[in-house]
Amino acid sequence: MSTPSNVPAITPDPILKLGTGFMAAKHLFAAVEIGLFERLTQPRTLDELVADLGMPRRTARICVDAMVAVGVVRRDQDRYVNGSEAQAFLSGQGPTDLRPWARFWNRISYGAWQDLDQTLRTGVPAHASRKLTPEQEELFSKGVAAITAGGANALATKYDLSRHERVLDLGGGTGSFLTAMLAAHPRLGATLFELPATAELARKILAGTPHGSKVQIVTGDLFTSPIPTGHDLVLLANVVHYFSPAKNLEILRRVRGALAPRARVLLVDFWMNAFHSEPVFGALMAGEFAVLLPEGDVYSLDEGRGWLADAGLRALELLPLAGPMSCLVAEAV
Ligand SMILES: C[S@@+](CC[C@H](N)C(=O)[O-])C[C@H]1O[C@@H](n2cnc3c(N)ncnc32)[C@H](O)[C@@H]1O
Repeated sequence: MSTPSNVPAITPDPILKLGTGFMAAKHLFAAVEIGLFERLTQPRTLDELVADLGMPRRTARICVDAMVAVGVVRRDQDRYVNGSEAQAFLSGQGPTDLRPWARFWNRISYGAWQDLDQTLRTGVPAHASRKLTPEQEELFSKGVAAITAGGANALATKYDLSRHERVLDLGGGTGSFLTAMLAAHPRLGATLFELPATAELARKILAGTPHGSKVQIVTGDLFTSPIPTGHDLVLLANVVHYFSPAKNLEILRRVRGALAPRARVLLVDFWMNAFHSEPVFGALMAGEFAVLLPEGDVYSLDEGRGWLADAGLRALELLPLAGPMSCLVAEAV
């Protein structure tokens, strides 16, 4: 039976495009690791690239042509040059450096994702018990800071920090949210609360930033250590996706116990729709959390609002930040 001419023919193209996504991602990570984008801030021929990278001609060409194919590098006659996004985010010369993110996903996440099917089938994260080496801890923290930099900068400008005296960043990583906040509001007091290995790294990294010396660093565990008091603003950025709903409620109750009425709580995450399908980035990241974290998941806005209400916090508004990241603003009642 023939298909009527006004019905578009169904093709496997969308499925094949999805399936080749891993090749595009791995080509991108390899190009970052090889140092391609640092070399293409000016137009270069393949021969110049080969000499500069010290790579075989065949594989240098495969690498750079793949980047042209996916639209990251431009080719004009016989010269290659970074496209505008690669120049801004991957060359090391723009305001935001995404290379630590690419290295984190290449060296830690990419291998772990090989076991996604096993993880999904069993519910047991294939890689959560893996102990990170100090080098991997650093790679992870710098990678997370690179991914969340856009959200951190957006929060510092979109949320009215002038109403606050002192902010506490719980699970604050190496301090990228606090650094952005202090750059916008230098008179704000700031405390970073982290597990020992990350706190140590934060100490080193913050020492090299303009406002880092103002940040008090407290080493502790969200479930067993006292939550520091004396703050009128608490930030939990990309922390709730680490834990189960019950644990998130426990954290929020502990946070509420350390706050005076009217103090604010900011929950930054990939807040999802009711079906956990939008934003798409969040739905895919749930796989990352599943393979790497014992209880990691993404949550809907309504789930977040429910925990807040149960913990004695009133949800006020949702601030869109950068890309898929948004901030649920709440107040202690
Ligand atoms: C995805 S990172 C987010 C870092 C930072 N807030 C950001 O958004 O860039 C989650 C952080 O939570 C910290 N964390 C996880 N479990 C914790 C716990 N039980 N107590 C304190 N911090 C914890 C981790 O060390 C990690 O730095």
